[in-house]
Amino acid sequence: MAASASRIILLQFLEDNKKCLRADLPRKQPAIIPPEKVCLHIPAMTNPSQQNPVACYSPERVQQVIDHFYPGETPLKQLLLRHSRQVRDKALAILAMPGNERLGLSADMASAAAMLHDLGIGQCHAPSILCTGQEPYLAHGLIGARLLRDYGRQTGEDWEACARVCERHTGTGITAEDVRRQQLPLPERDFLPETPLEKLICLADKYFSKSGDLQEKTRDQILRELSRFGPKTVRRLKDLWDFFNLGQ
Ligand SMILES: [Fe+2]
Repeated sequence: MAASASRIILLQFLEDNKKCLRADLPRKQPAIIPPEKVCLHIPAMTNPSQQNPVACYSPERVQQVIDHFYPGETPLKQLLLRHSRQVRDKALAILAMPGNERLGLSADMASAAAMLHDLGIGQCHAPSILCTGQEPYLAHGLIGARLLRDYGRQTGEDWEACARVCERHTGTGITAEDVRRQQLPLPERDFLPETPLEKLICLADKYFSKSGDLQEKTRDQILRELSRFGPKTVRRLKDLWDFFNLGQ
């Protein structure tokens, strides 16, 4: 399809959705960009959809987004959903701890971010967890973020808060120095959890793997596993526990 024709269709789609929003009508399904067409090397934008309304974080809308990128019922989708629900439930449990109401995070927002944090794994290569894509697994956060940003550009929604969660949840975050020293397959910049939402999902994710017995890990297990990445990683983990009033 010629570029100008695509642009006309996209503009018409955005205009139609604005009408739906104004009239409180069901929104149209977005034009689909297959996940495999999203380029890993598109330069990241801080907030490309600043003009768009913040996305609706209802569980139904979030499930639509997941279904968009993972159509049908596949073993990978089942694994993704199971893991994401475990992370969601843990995030909500942490959020319910005394003192954490100060963070002002809604349950819907925490749930949405948890359900979408691993959206990029389908494009990565990790056969042991059913991921048969080509990209390095470490890039799954960055890929998920770009999927959400591109999707938001199509639908006229701002998914930026969840996109940032995707790119900042790996380990206890990754620094530019980590990328440089370990020659990681990522752009050389910091991917550290900064907002309460980013910290919450990063921490909740540490309690669950997508392989093995899939049971919740103990704090000692998490500490042991992350200590191989060095003292700075352990320090950030303890800071996360402290931030959510879970002690050190
Ligand atoms: Fe995860």
